Amino acid sequence: MVAPRELHDAAAVRLVAGGALGLDALVGGGPPLSRDRKDTFALRLDRFHADLEAALSLIHPVPEVREPLVQRLVELAATTFAERPDELHRLDEQRLLAPDWLQQSRMFGYACYTDRFADDLRGIAKHLDHLEGLGVTYLHLMPLLQPREGDNDGGYAVQDYGAVRSDLGTMDDLRDLATTLRERGISLCMDLVLNHVAMEHEWATKARAGDPAYRDYFHVFTDEAVLDAYEQTLPEVFPDFAPGNFTWDDDLQGWVWTTFNEFQWDLNWANPSVLVEFAEIILGFANLGVEVLRLDAIAFLWKRLGTNCQNQPEVHAITQALHAVTRMAAPAVAFKAEAIVGPRDLVQYLGTGKHAGRVSDLAYHNSLMVQVWSMLAARNTVLAKHALASLPAKPTTGTWITYVRCHDDIGWAIDDRDAHAVGITGHGHRAFLSDWYSGEFPKSWADGLVFQANPATGDRRISGTSASLLGLRSGATSGPAVDNALARYFLAHAVVAGWGGIPVIWSGDELAQVNDPDWAEEPGHENDNRWAHRPRLDWSRAVAKDDLRTIPGRVYTGLKHLAAVRAGLPQLHASASTEVLEETDDGVLAVVRRHASGTFVGLYNVTEVARPFELHRLHDAGLTVPYDALGGHVLAVGSMGMLWLPPYAAWWVVDAPSG
Ligand code: GLC
Repeated sequence: MVAPRELHDAAAVRLVAGGALGLDALVGGGPPLSRDRKDTFALRLDRFHADLEAALSLIHPVPEVREPLVQRLVELAATTFAERPDELHRLDEQRLLAPDWLQQSRMFGYACYTDRFADDLRGIAKHLDHLEGLGVTYLHLMPLLQPREGDNDGGYAVQDYGAVRSDLGTMDDLRDLATTLRERGISLCMDLVLNHVAMEHEWATKARAGDPAYRDYFHVFTDEAVLDAYEQTLPEVFPDFAPGNFTWDDDLQGWVWTTFNEFQWDLNWANPSVLVEFAEIILGFANLGVEVLRLDAIAFLWKRLGTNCQNQPEVHAITQALHAVTRMAAPAVAFKAEAIVGPRDLVQYLGTGKHAGRVSDLAYHNSLMVQVWSMLAARNTVLAKHALASLPAKPTTGTWITYVRCHDDIGWAIDDRDAHAVGITGHGHRAFLSDWYSGEFPKSWADGLVFQANPATGDRRISGTSASLLGLRSGATSGPAVDNALARYFLAHAVVAGWGGIPVIWSGDELAQVNDPDWAEEPGHENDNRWAHRPRLDWSRAVAKDDLRTIPGRVYTGLKHLAAVRAGLPQLHASASTEVLEETDDGVLAVVRRHASGTFVGLYNVTEVARPFELHRLHDAGLTVPYDALGGHVLAVGSMGMLWLPPYAAWWVVDAPSG
């Protein structure tokens, strides 16, 4: 037990000074806290106060601005802590005892829209067998708060953070679902949109009504020259349906920053009030039992003239401040950064340098996703090996979210330098990938849709479900084309599930659903073909999920197998790094993971013909009797000590189990 005098951080001591640690005063009314609880909070404050101070010093160097902000945030943390239900305090303890909970190989994720999966929040609880059967331990529900009416970018234009979308249920339903999931060993992740709000949000309404305090929640400009200056270096996220980055508003008599759609107003994170509002929102969800918050479009939070206004250093400072406050109140809660950025900007989101261990716990491995598609189309691993091997090392405490695809389009985040290093051009390869996956390239197996063609840059992103992009056509049931497509399906998922991190399956992919042909029929969806790959789950396909004579059965069983084998391989613990072997056959991707529990080598053949890999390299990596854990057999060696990977083989090689 730590007495107040032992708290070494001077500012923290000030904050908790007076009374029995002063916590009652910080919390205000409410039931008195036990001595133990007070000690716990004092320890957390002592631990995280410096992180909070350091983060805010970067954003608000002026003490007169920063100090009241720190005070307010600590008060919020204290109130949340005091109001936190006992069972969530218990969860905090459990997570603190196993801080690597997100890194364990039992983690296996699933993402869906609540309504498209199960109508509403209560409906989800009725379908847990489907998820548990697959091996799911982490469920990401897409935006579920009250959005604006009409087009709302799939819920990413939130009108009210205090209410669940009315057709999905209530806050109580959300709490109940989080509780049920927790009891079944599944962690609930939900979206938190913090770069922008719907233009109908109360803050925006007040700004439009002329309240200067709320006008300052947004970036509003009256001088067009300033916009022009910003536009010089700003990319366009939706060049098709929302060109430019600013929108004129008559009521404001100004231009408001709208990175995404005109109805999504970017928030001004330089305003301390915005930080306080979001700290309160985050802590509210923490106390409902939400375990992971997906920080949507986090890369865009800070604007700086002369830059692309992404990945600015202040973004990481803001995340650190929110993280510190959340850790004080609810250490069981983790952050997931949604930063779909270039390979070299990515790793910072998991915390590097002074932010190490202090920002997001999870981040999407966008680069790996892109390289999986690139390898399969090119039947070549040279670029992927170079690009993935050149990525800066991931901090050991950070965890990738790995995925074959998600609810968004696939943008070809191929770094020009990587392409150049392997003798191709980034532009040419990106064009090839768009041609291939839109099905325009001769003999392409893919059936994707072009999303946001940008004539100025030549970019063409791609929409499509895994099945449609990997060559499974609606109605096809058997034959070599189907076998090849299924082999690619399994291979792509094996690469991401064998990388280390939390693999996340997008809803419908576990049953090999193809693109929704009616995607444009729903109001508000007509201009956004990402809805083609966000189909309603076809429960009629789930009936066959265990029937290996059917495609849904083969896919569901295959993915379930990956999850089950993975759960039994501690070598896939996300703290270990993944090393890519660059000198392998051009059709083979080989990754080595060295963990205290043993070595793991992932071997993948991305082509339709057998490819070689030298056995001695497995021995060199430390494996004595190489055994493919996916196939369940010791590897057979060919002549001259060569292993031959059959077409599209995916092997997870570890030492053969003894006995
Ligand atoms: C994220 C979401 C995407 C959305 C955008 C704006 O990138 O994944 O679907 O359009 O943020 O909120």
